Amino acid sequence: MSNVFVFDHPLIQHKLTYIRDKNTGTKEFRELVDEVAMLMAFEITRDLPTSDVEVETPVTTSKSKVLAGKKLGLVPILRAGLGMVDGVRKLIPAAKVGHVGLYRDPETLKPVEYYVKLPNDIEERELIVIDPMLATGGSAIDAIGALKQRGAKNIRLMCLVAAPEGVKAVQETHPDVDIYLAALDDSLDDHGYIVPGLGDAGDRLFGTK
Ligand code: URA
Repeated sequence: MSNVFVFDHPLIQHKLTYIRDKNTGTKEFRELVDEVAMLMAFEITRDLPTSDVEVETPVTTSKSKVLAGKKLGLVPILRAGLGMVDGVRKLIPAAKVGHVGLYRDPETLKPVEYYVKLPNDIEERELIVIDPMLATGGSAIDAIGALKQRGAKNIRLMCLVAAPEGVKAVQETHPDVDIYLAALDDSLDDHGYIVPGLGDAGDRLFGTK
């Protein structure tokens, strides 16, 4: 079963409080999401393997560490996932970025992919799927499925806020995918909004309604 990590770092929690606040405007909301994404990236990458190298300092030779192992890929789910990409890229500038856009056909309930563009070596990469709101889990489940269909093997899911229903659904469908959150909230309301949540993440990021 996938692990769920909730980052209770004071900086993340402080910024998340202002992200939740309905009086926070678009500019500040975007900046705060960017900052939290960067802080979360720091935590998510904590277990990346390193290898030893030698480096000449101005004083002597030092045995130091560099990242080793799989290269990273970021896959924001359109559209709200875009709001967290730059923050992660500040810490991992070499990561390639793919995009997944999909919706559920209301008749067949099957996922329809309207945009999928990925690095061509995703099977060799450690992928971080990014979606700020894990509500029912439908989009994340479908996006992860789309990546697996194309050969992805190592996938993590990064969200700002999740409902227990979404976490459970992802765990059941993709038990190999670890989930990283800034907060695990109480529930979903009748309209599919996370409670207490932060409203519509895409609208708040992009100033739409
Ligand atoms: N998507 C959002 O943007 N917000 C929610 O609360 C649920 C899904």
